[in-house]
Amino acid sequence: MKRSDGQGGNLDATVFSASRHAALRTRRRVWKMAALAAAFSLFALYLAWLEAYDAEPHHSDESPLGEAVAQASAPASGASGRGPDLVKRGEYLARAGDCIACHTSDKGRPFAGGLAISTPFGTIYTPNITPDPDTGIGRWTDADFLRAMHQGIGKEGERLYPAFPYAEYTKVTDQDVQAIRAYLNTVVPVHYTPPPNEMRFPFNQRWLMVFWNMFNFDEGRFVPDPKQSAEWNRGAYLVEGLAHCGECHTPRNFTQGLQTSERLSGAIQAGWHAYNITPHKTSGIGGWSDQDIVSYLSTGIAQGRANAAGPMAEVVSDSTQYLNGEDLRSIAVYLRSLKPVDRGERRSRAEWGAPASDAVALRGVRIDGVNGAQLFLANCASCHQWTGEGVGAGASGAYPSLIHNSVTGAGDANNLAMVILHGVHRTTKDADVLMPAFDRELTDAQIAAVTNYVTSRFGNPQSTVSVEQVGQLRATPQ
Ligand code: HEC
Ligand code: HEC
Ligand code: HEC
Repeated sequence: MKRSDGQGGNLDATVFSASRHAALRTRRRVWKMAALAAAFSLFALYLAWLEAYDAEPHHSDESPLGEAVAQASAPASGASGRGPDLVKRGEYLARAGDCIACHTSDKGRPFAGGLAISTPFGTIYTPNITPDPDTGIGRWTDADFLRAMHQGIGKEGERLYPAFPYAEYTKVTDQDVQAIRAYLNTVVPVHYTPPPNEMRFPFNQRWLMVFWNMFNFDEGRFVPDPKQSAEWNRGAYLVEGLAHCGECHTPRNFTQGLQTSERLSGAIQAGWHAYNITPHKTSGIGGWSDQDIVSYLSTGIAQGRANAAGPMAEVVSDSTQYLNGEDLRSIAVYLRSLKPVDRGERRSRAEWGAPASDAVALRGVRIDGVNGAQLFLANCASCHQWTGEGVGAGASGAYPSLIHNSVTGAGDANNLAMVILHGVHRTTKDADVLMPAFDRELTDAQIAAVTNYVTSRFGNPQSTVSVEQVGQLRATPQ
């Protein structure tokens, strides 16, 4: 219907002026929108030009790599060059990059993809990277592969989503990327097409990643710092590059890019708190020795401090346990050199708690409703002891102490509730670690009660969780 403002002598003054104002406002808004759209298009064109202009000269590895990295990126096995050595080196590097974790949904067909990764913008299914020519990357040239790893661009020139950590892989040398390719060429080709992505509009528009890249992506190989030791450079190359520790441990900005100024200072990942691993004494891991870090990454246990559960248990099982001692020490050296980030904790996560027991006090007492102490005795004490001290100390295969354990001493109880919901599963050379999951046995209210009991008795009593929070954690896709 057409509105006849302007010449309506029969309209009374107020209606007239109101509708006129509305029209003016609309017109102004239209103008604003048009101006904005024009500015946006110009900007987009400029970016496209910049990208095109930028795309060519990167034949990577052109910048002379310092001795540190040349030396450092040769694995301790001494493997180098071509053929079986190259493949072996590629296997080692593929483990350091943990390709298998994201590109495997069914353990029976490794690297065939299909794993659902949920992001705030929708679900992405990882592609098949086996050498199958039709459904995998069998027809990709090495140049295609390098471009994907270094620039986040797919075979047809399409933008890849940053759920693929190319923002880190861009730092990996050409040599190392080629070794990974050589190894992937040798894995069993699997004929399997993963489900299509379920990204919401506008995020299903891949070209939009141009903007994401502009704010969050710095293309380029790792540049060693000549002022630092070869060990430090190797550690930096792994942590900031292949091993992509920051994907979980670094907080994100609203575009889901990493806030590099807050590097490795802790973030929430699929409901789990990937803790602050900067060397801050109380907020981070400043109190850990190099050996603690090495032991944690190779076995999942830093005795008297922490055990790896959830996503970190997967990192240890699929990736870091395979790294040699030299590389693990380099990681420790690098982590120790980071800027310590203070998150306000007054005592370190691993220093809370003392043995306690309510077993005697509970005897003969009538219990109404949900009771944390009782739930602890019934569900946890058989392994962790009613005093919370565990069995077998930190030996692998032991039931760990809940005292001086980063999960019970953390400033939030997320990971404790997650450990109870999902249990612990970690496979390493020396142990197959298993704590049962309680998500089927216990209700949200029961899990909240036992969590709060454990933090109050054995950990940081200020860390509590509500029934609603447990419900949210339970609903978080893993
Ligand atoms: C954190 C999860 C994650 C890890 C780790 C990971 N990828 Fe991926 N990768 C993805 C996702 C997600 C995509 C799909 C992105 C998209 O659809 O835009 C992808 C895409 C790719 C592609 C493009 C394939 C295609 O068909 O377009 C290649 C090649 C690739 N990854 C190789 C690797 C290699 C090699 C490693 C190990 C060094 C690795 N990825 C580790 C998540 C991961
Ligand atoms: C897939 C996500 C993810 C990646 C990648 C990852 N971490 Fe973690 N990390 C976590 C989570 C989650 C925890 C907490 C585990 C727990 O509570 O049992 C954790 C815990 C840790 C801890 C123990 C901290 C403490 O106080 O308990 C260290 C040390 C650590 N990670 C180091 C690393 C390093 C080094 C890398 C890279 C080689 C890395 N992580 C990569 C998710 C990740
Ligand atoms: C059948 C034995 C068993 C039972 C029952 C059990 N646990 Fe565990 N728990 C384990 C094992 C094994 C580990 C992993 C040890 C390791 O990481 O090396 C573990 C680990 C933990 C951790 C440390 C996780 C981390 O990331 O640091 C906590 C906290 C914990 N359990 C709490 C509980 C609570 C609370 C209950 C009861 C709801 C419970 N456990 C029941 C065996 C058990």
